[in-house]
Amino acid sequence: APGAQRFIPPRADTIDELRAAATSCQGCELYRDASQTVFGRGGADARVVLVGEQPGDLEDQKGLPFVGPAGRLLRRAVDDAGLDPTGLYLTNAVKHFRFELRGRRRIHQTPDRVHITACRPWLVAEFARLRPEIVVVLGATAAKALLGPAFRVTRQRGELLPWPASAEHPEDFTRVPVDSAGGVADAPPARLLATIHPSAVLRADNQDIAYQGLVADLTIAARALA
Ligand code: URA
Ligand code: SF4
Repeated sequence: APGAQRFIPPRADTIDELRAAATSCQGCELYRDASQTVFGRGGADARVVLVGEQPGDLEDQKGLPFVGPAGRLLRRAVDDAGLDPTGLYLTNAVKHFRFELRGRRRIHQTPDRVHITACRPWLVAEFARLRPEIVVVLGATAAKALLGPAFRVTRQRGELLPWPASAEHPEDFTRVPVDSAGGVADAPPARLLATIHPSAVLRADNQDIAYQGLVADLTIAARALA
């Protein structure tokens, strides 16, 4: 069957074990042209998980999420929102870079539903290990992965939503086994907040207003933690 699930070792108890296993994922076609899997990064005790779309060109080369221009903007916004950067885990809905070659340039292509669905087991596995208090969904692709295709970021951004927020994706990661002995977390359910993607800020006609909107949404997450 397609999808990442069969590449996830049932005994991978930690994020590091998941990351190691993800290097050889062939759950969809995207591994063929990309340089490497770009897994999430951040502390195992992170209280907040930020979910982007997919690695960009630079992330694909470096093997780390959010190291390019969007990542720089995101870090500034996190700081301005008063979120503790050491309590964050950054990841993506899709873990390989999807692009189109134009000459020698690699042009970003939005992942399709098949890629989002194929890669989703990695995201669920990350959540199960991390058990964050708040999941921040950055943009439409991550929203599709976690909230289903009907969710509109523009309409519901900045609202703290209960998890699981979608009938289409009802898994409650607080009840997914977190160790190979079948242990189940007793953490309270996480909450979820959607906002725009930092790349959308970089593309906006008025970058200042778009940036302030991103910071305002992240501030709601920061206050919810306090
Ligand atoms: N955009 C994303 O969504 N993720 C990254 O890691 C970089 C840019
Ligand atoms: Fe596996 Fe996700 Fe990469 Fe597809 S995009 S090969 S599912 S890690």
